[in-house]
Amino acid sequence: MKHIFNKGKDLTKPTFLMLHGTGGNELDLLPLAGMIDDEASVLSVRGNVLENGMPRFFRRLAEGVFDEEDLIFRTTELNEFLDDAAVKYDFDRDNIIAIGYSNGANIAASLLFHYQNALKGAILHHPMVPRRIDLPDLTGKHVFIAAGTNDPICSPLESAELQSLLENANANVVLHWEHRGHQLTKQEVDAAAEWYQKL
Ligand code: MLT
Repeated sequence: MKHIFNKGKDLTKPTFLMLHGTGGNELDLLPLAGMIDDEASVLSVRGNVLENGMPRFFRRLAEGVFDEEDLIFRTTELNEFLDDAAVKYDFDRDNIIAIGYSNGANIAASLLFHYQNALKGAILHHPMVPRRIDLPDLTGKHVFIAAGTNDPICSPLESAELQSLLENANANVVLHWEHRGHQLTKQEVDAAAEWYQKL
């Protein structure tokens, strides 16, 4: 997968896996990583799917309707890419925190839903429920969800559903609300940074 890897100053810190929204690329979320922890390594990936020229991490049939077969295939592809990248760049495979926005948050959630050990944690900006399936045991995983009370793409109900699905799988989840829509706000990034510092 097309990507950027920036080795951090402190190799005991997690590696941030940056996952952009629809139409974005691997450059988009680099500033966010620095706002959370500027000493961590960063692996920023471009989605392999194109929708009318816009990169995404998996296909969708319509707005908010996912192509589940492709979602499963792309989730496996990303998980295997992480296995290979950890060897290539010599970072700890068991200490990856995903930071995703929208479509990128959805594939990060999908990693958690399908693989017990894909991620140590995740910061999910405006995610949806990727699939309705039984989750692996996510004991010890930490998830921060930023949601908008007025988000037309990820409804507040769906954000709360995602929180409870993850909590029922024993993950530690914080759901942060902004009185905004689908946009990624500075306030929610600051809240995510505060959450991260307490891990
Ligand atoms: C998705 O397709 O992943 C969601 O609808 C979010 C987005 O618009 O990318």
